[in-house]
Amino acid sequence: MTKDTDDFLPAEERRLILRQYGKKFGLNVFIETGTNNGDTPWFLQNDFTELHTIELGKAQFIAARERFRHVPQVTCYHGDSTTQLAAVLSEITEPALIWLDGHYSGPGTASGTQNCPAMDEIRAIIADGRPHVVLVDDARCFYGGQHNPIGGNPMYDHYSTWDSLENVQALAESGGYTFVIKDDIIRLTP
Ligand SMILES: C[S@@+](CC[C@H](N)C(=O)[O-])C[C@H]1O[C@@H](n2cnc3c(N)ncnc32)[C@H](O)[C@@H]1O
Repeated sequence: MTKDTDDFLPAEERRLILRQYGKKFGLNVFIETGTNNGDTPWFLQNDFTELHTIELGKAQFIAARERFRHVPQVTCYHGDSTTQLAAVLSEITEPALIWLDGHYSGPGTASGTQNCPAMDEIRAIIADGRPHVVLVDDARCFYGGQHNPIGGNPMYDHYSTWDSLENVQALAESGGYTFVIKDDIIRLTP
């Protein structure tokens, strides 16, 4: 396993990568887990014909729904991505660019039964069976234990509960995905 040692990118540069992947794979549908304040679907609102974003935190969901009130192509969902993602996948009619970024991120953010539900999210995507393109943010947080570059800081203790990069790779490859890490983003392509 080659671990990515690149510094992580500012949020706007990550959004440019999402835009590039959408164009490169000809995808019209975008799905995000972890809406937070909605900046990513806001940035990408004219790059896709449908954008779906899922948030567990009630306050973040209400604020995002309000923010997108006049942006009809963006739909906000309230709930845990471990169940909501499969529900959204069952609604869409074509493959999507899927941005997995719904995880506990410190005080004020929500947490479901797991600090990071990425493994369940990837299982739902594989079960769907269509050739989605999946980008998973914060690859560095899957390094685990003493390998975690931000480990040891009690502010970020929750990252030590994330599954390992090896398990993410094995699961993705079992679903036929190619696994690449670059710029702190795990890129799963069909
Ligand atoms: C890192 S922030 C998302 C940032 C956003 N995607 C962006 O690109 O700007 C993570 C968000 O995921 C939410 N969250 C945590 N666990 C979740 C879950 N199981 N399902 C959905 N959202 C979750 C948190 O409340 C937080 O708002």
